[in-house]
Amino acid sequence: MAMARTTALLLVAAALLAASSSAWEVNIQMPASAAVDDAVAPLIHALRPLLGSGKQAGVACDSWRLGVEAHNVRDWKTVPASCEDYVGHYMVGDHYRRDSKVVIDQAIAYVDSLKLAGNGKEVWVFDVDETTLSNLPYYAKHGFGATPFNSTSFRAYAREGSAPALPETKRLYNKLLSVGIKPVILTGRRENLRASTTTNLRSQGYSRWMKLLLKQQDFRGSSVTFKSGERQKLQDAGYIIVGNIGDQWSDILGAPEGARTFKLPDPMYYIG
Ligand SMILES: *[C@@H]1O[C@H](CO)[C@@H](O)[C@H](O)[C@H]1NC(C)=O
Ligand SMILES: [Mg+2]
Repeated sequence: MAMARTTALLLVAAALLAASSSAWEVNIQMPASAAVDDAVAPLIHALRPLLGSGKQAGVACDSWRLGVEAHNVRDWKTVPASCEDYVGHYMVGDHYRRDSKVVIDQAIAYVDSLKLAGNGKEVWVFDVDETTLSNLPYYAKHGFGATPFNSTSFRAYAREGSAPALPETKRLYNKLLSVGIKPVILTGRRENLRASTTTNLRSQGYSRWMKLLLKQQDFRGSSVTFKSGERQKLQDAGYIIVGNIGDQWSDILGAPEGARTFKLPDPMYYIG
């Protein structure tokens, strides 16, 4: 029992180490040497309080996560404290990657099914956080969403421009470029993060987007209002939104949504 627990902690710690490197790929191979144990000891210590029963008020964390993804659970502020360990394992292990792959496989099959006009007016809307870029290195250090969102520390992280790409999303992005659908990047980040977001996207291999749309500093309104408003402007300018992908329901709700929408997983936070 103690052995299994230690092994589980080491796996999480190893995954966290991998997640905080520039590569998004998570490597959970763990050499069993004492030296390595020493190296990860601070992380293990930090993670010790995170082991929960995996239940919140009688609801299993996997059921809670399904409720979140299906948009039955809404307007939540933080991951239930007892689900922090569950969400951490989900995010840094293979599960998140596998779930994302299903979404992107479906999106690519959809692209292959389209009869494109090829008139340069066909666009695809991408969100940034947890869609083109992954903030997992940040959230791994902030309780995977179980601690209240801190906009100061998050902005400092975003300003570094060090977030890794979601590899699955990049696959879709490159596919769209290859068939002449123009990417439009539409984010709830504000204009003062334009430079670092641009640098970050480029350093992670994203290029040739048609527009990068950010919120004005003084915009006050919901994410749905902002994003649907920007999509309306695209449509009014004669663009056809053939697809729209994000990790939040607020990325894909609100007319015009786009001809088809795709929801990536995100059990770490909710933006209404
Ligand atoms: C938010 O983050 C900043 C910068 O790291 C820190 O100084 C501040 O104490 C944090 N606020 C809370 C409420 O944790
Ligand atoms: Mg997002």
